[in-house]
Amino acid sequence: MKIGIDKIGFYAPHLFLDMNKLAVARDVDPAKYTIGIGQEKMAIAPITQDAVSLAANAALNILDDKDKEDIDFVIFGTESGIDHSKSAGVYIHDLLGLNPKARTIEVKQACYGATAGIQMAKGHIALHPKSKVLVLGADIARYGLNSGGEATQGAGAVAMVISADPRILALEDKSAYLTADIMDFWRPVYSDTAMVDGKLSNEKYISFFESVWEDYKVQSGFGLEDFTAICFHLPYTKMGQKALRAIYEQGTEEDKERLVANLEASKTYNKQVGNIYTGSLYLSLLSLLEQQEELQDGARIGLFSYGSGAVGEFFTGVLQPGYRKYLNTYDHEELLASRTELSVDAYETVFEDTLPADGSTVELEIESDPAKIALSGISGHMRHYVHKDKK
Ligand code: COA
Repeated sequence: MKIGIDKIGFYAPHLFLDMNKLAVARDVDPAKYTIGIGQEKMAIAPITQDAVSLAANAALNILDDKDKEDIDFVIFGTESGIDHSKSAGVYIHDLLGLNPKARTIEVKQACYGATAGIQMAKGHIALHPKSKVLVLGADIARYGLNSGGEATQGAGAVAMVISADPRILALEDKSAYLTADIMDFWRPVYSDTAMVDGKLSNEKYISFFESVWEDYKVQSGFGLEDFTAICFHLPYTKMGQKALRAIYEQGTEEDKERLVANLEASKTYNKQVGNIYTGSLYLSLLSLLEQQEELQDGARIGLFSYGSGAVGEFFTGVLQPGYRKYLNTYDHEELLASRTELSVDAYETVFEDTLPADGSTVELEIESDPAKIALSGISGHMRHYVHKDKK
């Protein structure tokens, strides 16, 4: 039985910052951000968007009534959770009106969370072939104003329906994974910005990739010639280039050209959104599928997932016949094209406009946020969300 991605969608908040302007404000050569790091725009979440609402908006765009009935497992990968106890997925379950006969959980392992969700979903479908699983990856990447990681922030969510007989990507069974206790990136529970050793994280990312790639080759007998494309977790788009460079000499000149060209297509959306942590690999996959028109049915795509701390995994999928019909390319291009640009001053104001952490009541103005689902306030220590179409 084939199991894999039947539907995939994403959502990014309606505000963005031009990286050239951030560079000028930080007295940095703009080419460092746009070429050296590889980012053009950074998505910025207004106070009315958190990981829950971002994921709900991403899922809203792909689910039909049948999916809502069939989904019996919701797995939410995030490292921007809103509660130490209650799963962010339970809010989504209600906001989307899913069948109550479902399991719902939140999964955390830095940017690896959504991959853990996909692998769990695969096992669930193998046991229950009629089920569908909703896997979400949503995050707001915050390093801090003027920090070393500032140029690699972002916000957004990816939603995927995992099922039997998937219409987009069938996941193959071989998979190579690795865990090691490393302090390259973490966020203590008292901090709303991440701690990071940027150079160490780059180094570990590449060594994890090399290690799982070698393990995968031994397991599968495959080499670069068997891959049409390899998608990477992209904390910033240059990272994918660095990782691919570590292995592309193993193939022919033709393999190298193909993989480099497809990597370019897989960076298009990420360049305009920034880091969305758990969703980044899947945003990159979506970018490849929607922005590389020459990709053929039957193409094998490699996927490298890396969650600092650290867990890495390399696994693969095969594009299904007619997969292109099930993409929403126009909607995704529109979503990115219709965003509002913020000045650097306005970005700093939005960045510092955070929710109270002392339990006080707040009512938020949601009309200026075009998202269908938004955070409308907090009272009695509870977050309240509004689904504007259901008001
Ligand atoms: N034109 C073109 N490229 C330039 C440049 C210029 N004027 N100035 C610098 N660069 C290049 C550098 O050569 C470097 O390229 P390389 O990485 O291929 O060597 C790149 O821009 C970044 O420069 P660097 O000096 O290393 O930047 P930094 O000290 O600001 O750190 C990160 C960059 C990504 C490490 C930092 O933003 C960070 O910590 N981000 C968060 C952590 C993260 O995303 N980790 C990834 C793994 S999960």
